[in-house]
Amino acid sequence: MVASLLTARGLNKQFRSGNQPVSVFRNLSLHLDRGESLALTGRSGSGKSTLLNILCGLEKPGTGSVQVLDEVFEGDTDRQTEARWASLRRQQIGVVFQEANLMPALSLLDNVRLRARLAGQSEDGCRDWLERLRIGELAGRYPDQVSGGQRQRAALAMVFAMKPALILADEPTGSLDRHTAEDVTGQLFDLQARHGCGLILATHDVELATRCSHHLDLGHLPEN
Ligand SMILES: Nc1ncnc2c1ncn2[C@@H]1O[C@H](COP(=O)(O)OP(=O)(O)OP(=O)(O)O)[C@@H](O)[C@H]1O
Ligand SMILES: [Mg+2]
Repeated sequence: MVASLLTARGLNKQFRSGNQPVSVFRNLSLHLDRGESLALTGRSGSGKSTLLNILCGLEKPGTGSVQVLDEVFEGDTDRQTEARWASLRRQQIGVVFQEANLMPALSLLDNVRLRARLAGQSEDGCRDWLERLRIGELAGRYPDQVSGGQRQRAALAMVFAMKPALILADEPTGSLDRHTAEDVTGQLFDLQARHGCGLILATHDVELATRCSHHLDLGHLPEN
């Protein structure tokens, strides 16, 4: 099996503020092999979420390329490119964002089952994932009937159930108390170790960042 999982080269990203272009990052490159983890840190607004969005194709960089497994993306925006990204997000890239993206009309368990099914995985272990994330008793509830932290854990269960090659997690413990956060983090690193998937997480939690094999501080990138 090829070890290389993700390579990004020369990424530049600008947003417009009024008429002024504002650079978020310049000439950013990174590489991740299977089984490795990378912590993205940096002050609020330094570009962590923007980078995660680019690494899963939800946002386009100004310039630069992203390679995930054997798919290479060089900034094209045609329908075929979008379809390749969508297919990767369905089967290979599990995304947990700051706003948990659950289907409001489905129970937590059915959300996890749907995610597993779309990724071509068995639905058998879906309830177990909710149990392991300590929300098993909420399996039949709808997303608007649980708390933000519980929704976030349901989003993690969805990602675990799809058994992705790469997990992108934006502040996965951001809305959890210390005890639950440690529990969830343990599950995340345990899954990563057992399945050998890659993990990139954006976090303000220094302790969590030190548990990752690599660390990129977006607040201290070299100027180019
Ligand atoms: N759609 C957008 N249009 C204009 N500017 C944007 C847009 N999205 C993000 N930005 C700006 O880009 C910068 C990076 O935002 P981003 O959300 O990536 O930061 P972050 O590091 O994730 O912050 P936080 O720790 O608060 O989540 C910020 O200055 C933000 O205001
Ligand atoms: Mg963010």
